[in-house]
Amino acid sequence: MKITKFNSYQNLNSMAAEALLSQVKANPKSVLGLATGRTFIPIYAELVRRAKVEKISFNQVTTFNLDEYAGIEYSDSHSFHFYMQAQLFSKLDFNPKKSFFPNLPGEKFEKLIADHGGIDFQYLGLGINGHIGFNEPGSSFTSVTRLVQLSESTKIQNADSFSGLAFPTEAITMGLSTISRAKKCLLVVSGASKAQILFDCLQKIHEHFPASLLQTHPDCELYVDQAAFALLEKHGQRVLQGD
Ligand code: GLP
Repeated sequence: MKITKFNSYQNLNSMAAEALLSQVKANPKSVLGLATGRTFIPIYAELVRRAKVEKISFNQVTTFNLDEYAGIEYSDSHSFHFYMQAQLFSKLDFNPKKSFFPNLPGEKFEKLIADHGGIDFQYLGLGINGHIGFNEPGSSFTSVTRLVQLSESTKIQNADSFSGLAFPTEAITMGLSTISRAKKCLLVVSGASKAQILFDCLQKIHEHFPASLLQTHPDCELYVDQAAFALLEKHGQRVLQGD
């Protein structure tokens, strides 16, 4: 895994946005795997800003989101559908008919991805317990799109986005095997709260640390800020300097 560290949070976001823009510039019909979470809010904002300046069209891309809460209406402001509309889709010329979220049965969603030729570029964030998508610790590396139970740590991590309302107990997520089939992945990790789990995920490859599977991916990059990199740095991790 190629690791690039950014001293500036602004540069991290800007380069993460640039990575996806380069993909779309190179292939306007790209199949994109998209993530949600706090990490991607400034990245999508930068993506929108640049795409407008550079007049880049997203009308021909197809998007597959990583995950969605189960039992929540798409129109609910807590859903990932709502997040994607608010942060990205409504701001550029994405074709709503070409944007997909994981749905049951998972096999059908997997087939839809395969019918589009697979995901060309996948954005990933890291959960505080090492999850990617909603593949919680213990998820099989061979898992595919399915319904999952959310862990207590995920409920705690994301509780503030539900502002006191009951947090969902289940979600539908792409599996770890689904994610690892993407041709290219970009994992973006920022903030001191992720330093320990990022370190753990890079020490060994184990299903207890779902993101550790990315170490085996042939084309996965990690963009990390100084705060999240701190522990790795202490242990002498080699890294490229992004700014
Ligand atoms: C969430 C989502 C992930 C996201 C990750 C990090 O729960 N299921 O897709 O990437 O956890 O979230 P954040 O960026 O808010 O730290």
